[in-house]
Amino acid sequence: MSSLTTSTAWTALITHHNETKNILLRDSFNADNTRHAKFSLHFNDILFDYSKNRITDQTLPLLIDLAKHAGLDAKIKAMFSGAEINKTEHRSVLHTALRNRSNQPVYVDGQDVMPQINSVLAKMRTFSTRVRSGEWRGYTGKAITDIVNIGIGGSDLGPKMVSTALTPYASETLKVHFVSNIDQADLVETLKHLSPETTLFLIASKTFTTQETMTNAKSARSWFLDSAQDQQAIAKHFVAISTSTRNVAEFGIDTNNMFEFRHWVGGRYSLWSAIGLSIALYVGMDNFEELLQGAYEVDEHFRATPFEKNIPVIMGLLGIWYNNFYNAESHALLPYDQSMLYFADYFQQGDMESNGKSIDLNGDKVDYSTGQIIWGQPGTNGQHAFFQLIHQGTKLIPCDFLAAANSHYKLPEHHDILISNFLAQPEALMKGKTAEEVKQELSAEDQADAVLVASKIFDGNKPSNSFLFSKLTPKTLGSLIAFYEHKIYVQGVIWNINSFDQMGVELGKTLAKIILPELQNDKIIDSHDSSTNALINAYKQSRLP
Ligand code: F6P
Repeated sequence: MSSLTTSTAWTALITHHNETKNILLRDSFNADNTRHAKFSLHFNDILFDYSKNRITDQTLPLLIDLAKHAGLDAKIKAMFSGAEINKTEHRSVLHTALRNRSNQPVYVDGQDVMPQINSVLAKMRTFSTRVRSGEWRGYTGKAITDIVNIGIGGSDLGPKMVSTALTPYASETLKVHFVSNIDQADLVETLKHLSPETTLFLIASKTFTTQETMTNAKSARSWFLDSAQDQQAIAKHFVAISTSTRNVAEFGIDTNNMFEFRHWVGGRYSLWSAIGLSIALYVGMDNFEELLQGAYEVDEHFRATPFEKNIPVIMGLLGIWYNNFYNAESHALLPYDQSMLYFADYFQQGDMESNGKSIDLNGDKVDYSTGQIIWGQPGTNGQHAFFQLIHQGTKLIPCDFLAAANSHYKLPEHHDILISNFLAQPEALMKGKTAEEVKQELSAEDQADAVLVASKIFDGNKPSNSFLFSKLTPKTLGSLIAFYEHKIYVQGVIWNINSFDQMGVELGKTLAKIILPELQNDKIIDSHDSSTNALINAYKQSRLP
């Protein structure tokens, strides 16, 4: 048994769960009209309401005891201080340094990393200003109109999520596109509408070895050279974002056209680094720095606020409560904001690649459930897709609802309708609908239909958090992202796992490298299991020459 599950804090939570699991949220609200005031927090313009969770006055203190048992306070300090908390890769974890707007020194191996971070930010400012103003010209002298970011995982999802979310702040003359998939459809369909004369490629890869990105980058370069017919022209149209100068040079991109970041920035935490260049190009460097500012303010909140008022700590602890004591397996992120289209996708990688681990920091197999399955999409679309299961299915799915009080757009009616749904869904999930309430709405004949009545009952008692903020500004978005990032760390600390490596992505990659040459001949393959052999041979037989 692990020290987590044998701890006094854990066993106290098991007892507390048994004592409270049958309490209905609707009864808790009826019994205590201070519940919202008690279980909500303000952070700048963000209201975090966690009152619709299955908690009593005792729950949070007991969860905080668990956090203390896990040494969360010291672990937070360790992360910010640049300690090597990513043990398997012998790395510090310092995405927080990238947005350290205080500019206080942050040391890695005795060296202050802030000067290098500031110099990359300055380079990003100069470059993005030149491209946005039209001063940077393509090989035929035309201004750049389209940015294509080629990257995958953390080198794609963050910039794509943020750029989409900040579209109202975007340049009118510059479009941004994201190509990630090795499926040629992604690159071909993107380039179909673009001109090589006015397209700037950002090749974004921490390692500059990722197969998908390197293959897409090579094909993009061929597409470009087919028109330009001049190797010298590449310097005007290809920029690299990476930690590896050597790999960038080997690929053939001038290292003067390289924006660097360091190994202590995890891929899925890298949007704050030069990986955010597409964001800076699209919305301007001032807005990019506002994004950093929003995250920085959350960093300060996270490192200095007592746990009972600390938003990422509370988010993380509530997730532990459902995951480990209610056996909830997934967590839905539901922004009522179309521009946050990729928010759940982004944290699907952020959370699942970070905490999808079953080995603890001592190398032992864990005896408790880790890692939440993160999924979701914007409301109200989700309501017409999967909400049925959340309301009336057999699974407990804690949800986060997020919305801005003010839209960037001006159509009458829409926003109040949107927000009425953002407010109604958590209420419905919490309250449910009893048989009595169902019957009151039915005719006498229908009331006698037991199946109909039963089908219309909502058990309720489904937990959710609500985030209501004034407007989705770059700063607010930065804060929201940082809340979720730190929530992931809180949970990783409690589960005693390394949230910052990703060994689980390696095996499939290695096997694909063995299979690839087997696809490039006409031989019958028999070196794998019978299923894999049969699939390889079926593919080889059915593909056209
Ligand atoms: O999916 C594995 C992974 O290593 C991610 O962690 C990372 O974000 C992605 O691949 C891309 O890696 P790179 O930026 O090195 O191309």
